[in-house]
Amino acid sequence: MMFRIAAVTTFLVLAVVSTSSIVVEAKVDRSITCYDYSDVFNNFNLKGIECTGRKLLFRIKNHFRLQNKNPDTKVKCRGGLDRELMALTNTTKNSDAKRQLQFLCDDALLDASVEAAMSLKSTWGSLESEPHSINLEEFFEGKGYLNKETGNFQQDANDFLKRGGHERFNYIGDDPRENDHYSTSEASYHGGEAILQFYTNEARSAFLDAPTAGFQKGCNATNAAVCCWQRDRQYFDKNGNCARQDCAKSNPGDNTDVCWTEVVDDTDSPYPYPGGVTEQDLHCHGMAWSTLEDTSGDVNANARWNNLFFVSMYDHLYTRGYAESITDDPLIAGEQAMCGCVEDMSAVIARADCTEAVGRTNYTASLDDGKLVIEHVPGSFRMQFRACEGFNYDDTISPEQYDEDYDLSPDVRSDNDLSAFVFRQYLEGKIDKDHVSEYEKTIVGYRNTTVNDSDEERNKVCEEKFNSKFPNTEYKEKVIVVTTV
Ligand SMILES: *[C@@H]1O[C@H](CO)[C@@H](O)[C@H](O)[C@H]1NC(C)=O
Ligand SMILES: *[C@@H]1O[C@H](CO)[C@@H](O)[C@H](O)[C@H]1NC(C)=O
Ligand SMILES: *[C@@H]1O[C@H](CO)[C@@H](O)[C@H](O)[C@H]1NC(C)=O
Ligand SMILES: *[C@@H]1O[C@H](CO)[C@@H](O)[C@H](O)[C@H]1NC(C)=O
Ligand SMILES: *[C@@H]1O[C@H](CO)[C@@H](O)[C@H](O)[C@H]1NC(C)=O
Repeated sequence: MMFRIAAVTTFLVLAVVSTSSIVVEAKVDRSITCYDYSDVFNNFNLKGIECTGRKLLFRIKNHFRLQNKNPDTKVKCRGGLDRELMALTNTTKNSDAKRQLQFLCDDALLDASVEAAMSLKSTWGSLESEPHSINLEEFFEGKGYLNKETGNFQQDANDFLKRGGHERFNYIGDDPRENDHYSTSEASYHGGEAILQFYTNEARSAFLDAPTAGFQKGCNATNAAVCCWQRDRQYFDKNGNCARQDCAKSNPGDNTDVCWTEVVDDTDSPYPYPGGVTEQDLHCHGMAWSTLEDTSGDVNANARWNNLFFVSMYDHLYTRGYAESITDDPLIAGEQAMCGCVEDMSAVIARADCTEAVGRTNYTASLDDGKLVIEHVPGSFRMQFRACEGFNYDDTISPEQYDEDYDLSPDVRSDNDLSAFVFRQYLEGKIDKDHVSEYEKTIVGYRNTTVNDSDEERNKVCEEKFNSKFPNTEYKEKVIVVTTV
């Protein structure tokens, strides 16, 4: 009882102070915060870190708790933290306040992205011109020294020390041209350096144009591109099976299956690849993007060619040493580019991994008339690449349902899977049915999430799709005679 009376007394004193008027109002004005947050936001530094509603909430909550416990202020806040959040975000419901915090971040990033789409454009020129003179047509075909030679692009002295050190190696260091085994050619070495520089500079700071005539057509049937590799040329990098003393015909890490290749020859019939004996370990990795206009600020769509650079040259060639198109394996029929639009690929595959591009910017936060304002710092926009965040295929959800209730997300999130990302973009209305049906002609495991599990599961799906497309042909490998000259 004593306690209660004391609390009420405190409140009355408080009300007088906080309204700075003699009149004691029964009802508090909840559009005004109890405490002063200007210091929090004046020193509020979101440099280089992603702005999220959760992070904002965390800072506001911390300040609130400190004030609420502070014996000097003696101010108890009527309405608590929820009142503060609603006042800062100019909302009247607690759930709206939390959502609004995220919107403030999203809007600031969108402003930065739209501004960037207008002003930050770049080309592949520094790779193509002297002194590097990389032929991009040749590279994306899977040809040229970057694809055909064997040897490392990057390494670390530690890689040698961990594997026996001076007992085993004459050369220990970071220059792969000096290696005892498979020493790298000058051309490949400088190509690798050029790729690293391009990644550090152009690739994350400005939107690239399409690198080759094939990509200039835009891949507009699927809005997706994919690279498929058959060879690993680099050791020490924990990817693929190229080893320092044995790197002849080495394979990349296995993540897919070729189902069949559609080849135009005299027989005009497909070449099936059941099982994994002939094809061995293959690796496919792609990207997909929306049909939205550049000016919409969809970073993943605007950065599609940056993403292509990242996936093909940086993350797979330079980092992992993956090279050559799968049809460079003489046992795989036909001829397809190492990287191309999904609709242009002649090898039908079960699945592919996936990278998406996201925008990043620095932010400032401030209070304007007591309301929280988040803005991007001009000139701080950049891109980042990450494993695609997609949704496992679920035929019970339509884009219309998804639009009505976007909290309704499919049961299982599936990251790093191209089909899952295509499905997500479809649900979000960023591509339409036609894109999806063109896509699943080439990447046939679109509806079968089991293709992520194993080669056996992939083979089941491959066989089923083959039989439904070619009901009169047996799913059986054709013998290809390889003649060595
Ligand atoms: C707060 O919201 C009200 C009602 O939606 C609106 O009229 C007012 O302009 C907003 N104030 C600020 C500072 O955004
Ligand atoms: C793709 O773009 C070309 C021209 O750039 C156009 O002729 C063609 O109809 C488009 N195809 C699709 C499926 O949108
Ligand atoms: C953005 O933040 C990063 C990390 O703190 C900093 O290095 C960079 O200079 C900032 N950029 C601008 C334009 O303020
Ligand atoms: C699917 O497989 C890829 C590569 O094999 C892996 O990176 C990814 O984590 C898998 N995703 C799921 C949901 O299992
Ligand atoms: C692949 O998915 C389709 C459609 O969901 C289904 O009918 C079929 O049985 C699945 N195939 C396999 C091999 O799991």
